Amino acid sequence: MTRTLVTGSAGRLGRSVVTALSQAGHEVIGIDTVAGTPAHAAATMPADLADLGEAYEVMTRFRPDNVVHLAAIATPFSRTEGVTFRTNTQLAFNVCEAAAATGVGGVVVASSPTVIGYGTPAWTPRYLPIDEEHPTEPWNAYSLSKQVAEQVMTTFARASATRFAAVRPCYVVAPEEWEGAPTQQGHTMAERLDRPELAGVSLFNYIDARDASDLVAALLDRLSVIPSGEVFFAGAADALARAPLAELLPEVVPTTAAAAPALTGNAPAFTSAKAERLLGWTAKRSWRTELAEA
Ligand SMILES: NC(=O)c1ccc[n+]([C@@H]2O[C@H](COP(=O)([O-])OP(=O)(O)OC[C@H]3O[C@@H](n4cnc5c(N)ncnc54)[C@H](O)[C@@H]3O)[C@@H](O)[C@H]2O)c1
Repeated sequence: MTRTLVTGSAGRLGRSVVTALSQAGHEVIGIDTVAGTPAHAAATMPADLADLGEAYEVMTRFRPDNVVHLAAIATPFSRTEGVTFRTNTQLAFNVCEAAAATGVGGVVVASSPTVIGYGTPAWTPRYLPIDEEHPTEPWNAYSLSKQVAEQVMTTFARASATRFAAVRPCYVVAPEEWEGAPTQQGHTMAERLDRPELAGVSLFNYIDARDASDLVAALLDRLSVIPSGEVFFAGAADALARAPLAELLPEVVPTTAAAAPALTGNAPAFTSAKAERLLGWTAKRSWRTELAEA
C-alpha cells in the first residue's frame, strides 16, 4: 500500500485530500500543528513543520512514499507580512529538504494562483485565459512566499532523486461552503456570486476541494512519468460568475479589458488544460451543480 503523508491535514483542503487519497487506496498520515484525526487518516501526528528537526522526524518515523505539502498560513494578510513570508517559505524548505534527504519518492507542494499578481490597480494580464507560462508578479508576502515555495520545489527537483510538482489550486470551496457555511473571508458562496467585487479580485477563479484533491491523487499517480518540477493550475471548468467573464471582468478589473474578449461563454480566467493534458484530470464540479441556492 502506498503511504502518503499530508501536511496541513486538518485544513480546508487537507481534510478533502486525506479523504480522496484514502479512497484512492493510500495509507494517509496526517501532520498538522492542530491535533485531531481527520476521518480516513490511518494516523495523525501534531508537529510544527517550521522546525526542520520536526520535519525530519516525521519523515523518518513514518517513511512515506509520498508527501503532499499543504501546511501554510493560507490566507493573505491574515498574519503580519513577515510572519507569513517566514512561515510559508520555511515550511516549504523544511518539508522538501526532509523529504528529499530521507528518500521520499514524490512530493506535491501547494502553491497559489496569487503568484500571478492580480489584485493591484496596475496589474494587467498579458493574455487570457492564464496558463502556467504567464509571468508571475507577486506583490505581497503570501504570493511571494508561494513563488519562493515553487522555486524551492524546482531546486530540489533538480538536485534530488525525489520527484516534485506544485499545484496552484484556485479559490478552494469546501463541501460545507456550498451549503452556506462561511468561506475563508467570512461571506457565503451565494454572496460571492451575487457580489462580483468579492470574487472579481481573484478573477472569479474557484475549485471544489474534492476536485482539487482528485488532482493531487492524479498527480501522485503520474509523478514518475512526467518531468519533475512541473507546476499545474487547478480550477473549475467555468467561472464563479453569473455573467460571462468577457462582459463582467472588465467591469470589475478594468485592466483586463483588452484580453477579456478571448474568454467565451462561461470560460474561467485560468485554464487547467495542462493538468488535463499531462494528468488526464478535469474538474467535475461547478457552482451550477453544487451550490444550495436559498
Ligand atoms: N484555500 C484556498 O483557496 C487556497 C488556494 C490556493 C492555494 N492554497 C494553499 O493550499 C494549502 C492549504 O490551504 P487551506 O485552505 O487548506 O488552508 P488551511 O488554513 O485551512 O489549512 C492549513 C493547515 O496548515 C496547518 N499549519 C500551519 N502552519 C503549520 C506548521 N508550522 N506545521 C504544521 N501544520 C501547519 C494549519 O494548522 C492548517 O490546518 C495552503 O498551502 C494554501 O496556501 C489554498
